[in-house]
Amino acid sequence: MLSESSAAVVTATLPAVRAHGEAITGRFYQRMFDAHPELLDLFNRGNQANGQQKAALAAAVAAYAGHLTGDAGAPWGPVLDRIAHKHASLGITATQYPIVGRHLLAAVGEVLGDAVTPSVAAAWDEVYWLLACELIAREARLYAGAGVPEGGPVWRDWRVTGRARETTDVVSFTLAPADGGVAPDFIPGSYVSVAVDLDGGRGRQIRQYSLSGRPGADRWRITVKRVRGTAGTPDGLVSGHLHERVAVGDTLRLSPAFGEVDATGDGGPLLLVSAGIGLTPAMAALARLADRDPSREVTVAHADRTPAAHALRHELPALQERLPNLTVQLWYEDAVGADLPGLKAEVSPGLVEPERIPTVSGVSAHLCGPIPFMNAVRADLLRRGVPADRIAYEVFGPGMLPA
Ligand SMILES: Cc1cc2nc3c(=O)[nH]c(=O)nc-3n(C[C@H](O)[C@H](O)[C@H](O)COP(=O)(O)OP(=O)(O)OC[C@H]3O[C@@H](n4cnc5c(N)ncnc54)[C@H](O)[C@@H]3O)c2cc1C
Ligand code: HEM
Repeated sequence: MLSESSAAVVTATLPAVRAHGEAITGRFYQRMFDAHPELLDLFNRGNQANGQQKAALAAAVAAYAGHLTGDAGAPWGPVLDRIAHKHASLGITATQYPIVGRHLLAAVGEVLGDAVTPSVAAAWDEVYWLLACELIAREARLYAGAGVPEGGPVWRDWRVTGRARETTDVVSFTLAPADGGVAPDFIPGSYVSVAVDLDGGRGRQIRQYSLSGRPGADRWRITVKRVRGTAGTPDGLVSGHLHERVAVGDTLRLSPAFGEVDATGDGGPLLLVSAGIGLTPAMAALARLADRDPSREVTVAHADRTPAAHALRHELPALQERLPNLTVQLWYEDAVGADLPGLKAEVSPGLVEPERIPTVSGVSAHLCGPIPFMNAVRADLLRRGVPADRIAYEVFGPGMLPA
């Protein structure tokens, strides 16, 4: 709870903080990296460059302040979970919170100037630490659950035991713990962070990849789409590195599996909607259901550019054999060559038509794909009466969908 005096100050200053949110967080990153260049490798340079990181931080702080002062906005718990799981996968420690707090509050002062009186600064300090304490507590529980020692490194070496080219732009890597241990079980929808040292002394970068293989198998699998630059933007750093430099026998540094979303839903009918590489959590969900709940009513609705670009498509016939109530609906912008022996699927040309995705009463939906795709599908599911809390989703980048 925010103290009464701080609540009044935060309510009065929240519109200004919201209006300047991204200027504040932009300034915050500059200040923090000047003072702590060692933190640069922890943050995603692509998200720094395209502004998504500062937008996600600004939105989270403003939403939390709104929540503390009584805004009836979107439920706050899922936002905290999202951040805590992402932080845990990056190995963020409690000792780093004072650094972020100091530079964030200094940035508020720099951007808002004289408006930041000592009582305004004290009120926002209180907001920051309430939020920080909630995150630190959640992250501590996640580390304990994953067997990470307090303040200890999250990273573990994994050996690449297989590499499979799925499409022109997508490669899967099969991974086993380098120490000979067993790959832990995971919840479908979980992801790992992968830390790579870029060649040419370009430092370290970390990215997240959803586990796309069968939970409970003795190996993990990630399926990585190579991100190519367009119109003057550079090629993706980590996906390019994984595609070009990582071969069978190499070692990769991975975090434990984290992720707040269980892509298999809650036991009732399940709808898995994906586009492009967003199919990775759905593939783990199908594999888990084939093992544990084969009679589940499941619909896969997937959109891709072409059948040839649809990664892991060849796994669908065997899954459908093991999941007799699995319905598959596919959209290809160019559907030539869509027939796949053994697969019963409804194939349509063109872009996904959200209104044609079937829903039944009690369905839980899991969405993963580009944000405009997920927004369109979610809006249509909501329109057709699927409750918001039954539509889970995964953003392959920072932030969440608008409430
Ligand atoms: C929870 C989660 C799960 C994920 N699961 C998967 C998965 O299963 N499979 C998968 O393939 N991906 C997955 N991703 C995405 C993955 O983490 C990476 O974001 C992706 O591989 C791109 O990383 P990169 O280093 O190759 O690209 P980056 O180097 O991060 O570049 C990303 C984009 O930013 C642009 N950019 C970079 N620098 C600049 C600049 N200076 N100016 C303008 N634009 C710039 C690049 O052109 C590119 O379009 C997941 C992400 C999350 C958060
Ligand atoms: C109260 C304090 C904090 C808040 C509100 C906060 C908020 C956020 C948010 C909203 C995201 C994006 C999550 C997503 O992917 O959707 C994020 C990611 C991240 N945070 Fe924090 N954070 C805080 C503290 C910290 C600290 C102490 C560190 C460590 C220095 C840190 C490092 C990171 C990193 C490295 C990412 C990933 C960035 C990326 O991949 O682009 N954060 N944080």
